Amino acid sequence: MSEKAQIGVTGLAVMGRNLARNFARHGHTVAVHNRSYQRTEELVKEFGHEGTFLPAESAEDFVASLEKPRRVIIMVKAGKATDAVIDEFAPLLEEGDMLIDAGNAHYADTRRREAALKERGLHFVGTGVSGGEEGALHGPSIMPGGSKESYEALGPLLEDISAKVDGEPCCVHVGPDGAGHFVKMVHNGIEYADMQLIAEAYDLLRQAGGHSPAEIASVFKTWNEGRLGSYLIEITAEVLQQTDAATGKPFVDIVKDAAEQKGTGRWTVQAALDLGVPVSGIAEAVFARALSGGTDVREAAATAQLPGPSAQAGSHGGDLQADVEQALFASKIVAYAQGFQQIQAASAEYDWEIDPGAMAKIWRAGCIIRAKFLDYIKQAYDKQPELATLLVDDYFLDAVSGAQEAWRRVVATAAAQGIPAPGFASALAYYDGLRASRLPAALIQGQRDFFGAHTYQRVDKEGAFHTLWATEDRKEIDA
Ligand code: 6PG
Repeated sequence: MSEKAQIGVTGLAVMGRNLARNFARHGHTVAVHNRSYQRTEELVKEFGHEGTFLPAESAEDFVASLEKPRRVIIMVKAGKATDAVIDEFAPLLEEGDMLIDAGNAHYADTRRREAALKERGLHFVGTGVSGGEEGALHGPSIMPGGSKESYEALGPLLEDISAKVDGEPCCVHVGPDGAGHFVKMVHNGIEYADMQLIAEAYDLLRQAGGHSPAEIASVFKTWNEGRLGSYLIEITAEVLQQTDAATGKPFVDIVKDAAEQKGTGRWTVQAALDLGVPVSGIAEAVFARALSGGTDVREAAATAQLPGPSAQAGSHGGDLQADVEQALFASKIVAYAQGFQQIQAASAEYDWEIDPGAMAKIWRAGCIIRAKFLDYIKQAYDKQPELATLLVDDYFLDAVSGAQEAWRRVVATAAAQGIPAPGFASALAYYDGLRASRLPAALIQGQRDFFGAHTYQRVDKEGAFHTLWATEDRKEIDA
């Protein structure tokens, strides 16, 4: 075979196919392979005119059609399928070749695979790719992990097909081994939080404000022009203005209210628990999906007719629409602050040296959480790379200070009227927790010392102490 491909894609379901087409459209020769050859043939038949594809029926032919060092993108369902593809291809590759997993793999799996393949002289690059099918085709946000060396050979190609902001690619080397997949996971966790907060804003405008979905769609359109401007706000307006053709009802009213999940939000929370980072916004979003899908429990609650507030309870004491916008923005800031803190904590734990500002930069276009707002996050980290929390950056501090009265009114209205708003409420509680000069954690320390002699520290001197609670004089001793 004379012509060689710069890159290969194995796994040609819609994401793999679109990534392959994106490379081809950018003038790269792309080797394509799929478990069933029919899909490979279909791709070439339908889209062959878009660029140069080298279809291969066998793994051996596929590998032989790649220039060295070989770059093989794996785009299969995360999990066992990924291991199977690695097992199939690794023996065919040579030292310095790269296997790139572009699926939503768990970062711990990526770390394991990277370590195993490194021993065989191969680079394993776990890379986050966000933007769905359209993004894969027209320019996703790309978050590659793996070695620096692999990025030198691979980065320019990925940057080429990524989304751009003012000509700058939405792709950067995130850090070694599992760093790319970790960051993609947190991206998805933030996506869950963002979606939950938007859903709560809609619910409040509908239930407390009495607006129709179509009216709320217009509100979201207006918000999309302002500081909340983002892909998720934009598509929310689209979904809310949709009418169901069969019934003539608002589309949102004919969809079953049980939100599903593939698991990346849950992983984010699990990882945050291990790292000890309070990502309460993401956790509330994951739990809210779980609650929505808990059919048995919801049915039991409906049968028991759990009482709500009286009909005349708490009308909103302010401009509901303007207040909800403030609450949404402030809660969103909290969710992002928490997600970025989680990235920084993982980076410290695993020595990844992730630049948080660079993550904000590559999320500005291509990905699901793309938003105007990310520019400010980037600027915040440019100013202060070691920023402990986004909430103390000038822009965000101002925004939250300006929003907090409205935010409190919205949470109060939700509670008074019995409208569930766990995202808004927990974000506010987190904010107040950070603000507090004294937390009731001191009492918890006292309780722990009482029942388990777990000891405590004092505010006025160094050391660990224990009170002899069982004795009459309850004397304090050095622990
Ligand atoms: C993206 C998305 C994508 C994710 C879905 C599904 O960045 O393009 O995050 O990777 O698979 O949005 O998420 P759930 O099914 O868990 O809602």
